[in-house]
Amino acid sequence: MSATLGLGALLPGAIRASTSGPQLLTARVSDVQLAPPDYPKTQIWGYDGKMPGTLIRVKQGDRVERRFVNDLPQASSVHWHGLRINNAMDGVAGLTQDAVQPGETFDYDFTAQDAGTYWYHAHNRSMEQVARGLYGALIVEEPEPVDVDREELLILDDWLLNPETAQLDTEFETPHDRSHAGRRGNYIATNGSSGTELPVKVSERLRLRLINAANARIFELDLSGFDGWVMAYDGMPLDEPEKVEGSFLLAPGQRMDLFVDVTAVAGEVAHLVRIDDDEGFSQAAFPVAPAENSARMRETPNPLPPNPNMSVPGVQTARRFELNMEGGAMGRLQSASLNGKEMSFRELVAANQFWSFNGVVGMTDTPLAQLSSGETARVSISNDTVFPHAMHLHGMHFREILDDGELGPLRDTLLVFGGETREIAFVAGEPGKWIFHCHMLAHTSSGMATWVNVT
Ligand code: C2O
Ligand code: CU
Repeated sequence: MSATLGLGALLPGAIRASTSGPQLLTARVSDVQLAPPDYPKTQIWGYDGKMPGTLIRVKQGDRVERRFVNDLPQASSVHWHGLRINNAMDGVAGLTQDAVQPGETFDYDFTAQDAGTYWYHAHNRSMEQVARGLYGALIVEEPEPVDVDREELLILDDWLLNPETAQLDTEFETPHDRSHAGRRGNYIATNGSSGTELPVKVSERLRLRLINAANARIFELDLSGFDGWVMAYDGMPLDEPEKVEGSFLLAPGQRMDLFVDVTAVAGEVAHLVRIDDDEGFSQAAFPVAPAENSARMRETPNPLPPNPNMSVPGVQTARRFELNMEGGAMGRLQSASLNGKEMSFRELVAANQFWSFNGVVGMTDTPLAQLSSGETARVSISNDTVFPHAMHLHGMHFREILDDGELGPLRDTLLVFGGETREIAFVAGEPGKWIFHCHMLAHTSSGMATWVNVT
């Protein structure tokens, strides 16, 4: 009987899959085992009901077509973080498209022109929707296989759960989170589990694809039992692999591709270590088994192949723009404009808004920069607040202009600490409206968003 039931249940799906419409990506409510097994399941919102959402894995140059189906009780949209795509596909509700209402669909269709580690997530009420679980990885493979034994995807997140029921705290608009460091969780997970264990062998070389999907947590990470190299930041390969020496930071929205060689011996456990208040915790454990053949450590890896058209020429003569970030708790913001009206900080607090860019809270009618496609621009970002902010530019990668005038690695999200001024340079890409915002999502929704217009 179970065979009959199984067949019946499979059939409609099989028929649907054979018709030629785009593949579906359905956002829906579901219950998943997020907390350890002795806890109840947690109700999340997930892509295809999964945590993390369905992995999208394509080859460089492939077309990605997904019919987004909104089965949520709330309007939503999907943003493809870090991809250079047509602006109409960027998924920013209210800027590049209307939010997709419950029961409705939207067809996303773009070409994955850059190889690397990317991710997709909700971009409507993202503070709530990403916290509820609406994200997944988007991996674009290099044309040729890279020289590793295997790879692992590690999506890091922290969840704010009720310690008894394991249900999500659904206060998504608390003034404290919005005015301080953002929503931080009390349950830290990798790929939706706190007990991630990935067996490895002596001397194996792994590619680790790290994604920080947390609302606000900056992960401080380290390696134990591995030798490692940073191969790429935010999807974009480094010209030379960077040896990992000591701990490193992964801010919300950021990714890192590491190559790691197992140096721990058989019977030991290697770790991706998370450092919290100077204490080390296992973010992911890698128990080491003996190698079948005589294992031998490898040479320093060769760089990953670069993505096309990534140079940032003419930085010296590029037009300059300034972004002054103010506000938040313990900040100096006296007043700023909200919806065209100048308000005192006290009035802003009453409106649950806390942050300004160049004196304005939230999105403006006129862009921060009006650019023509192909031109290089520089933006100097001053963080006149006491909190770090992870500034993310859609649709383009930038390079930081370092103190010595050199250009830093290509990135799409830059962590700027309180009191710092940092400058980025980028080439204006595809025409359209590209949002530029803090990826601490409580900050995005309480003022920290602007945009650049490319024509
Ligand atoms: Cu990862 Cu505007 O977002
Ligand atoms: Cu911020």
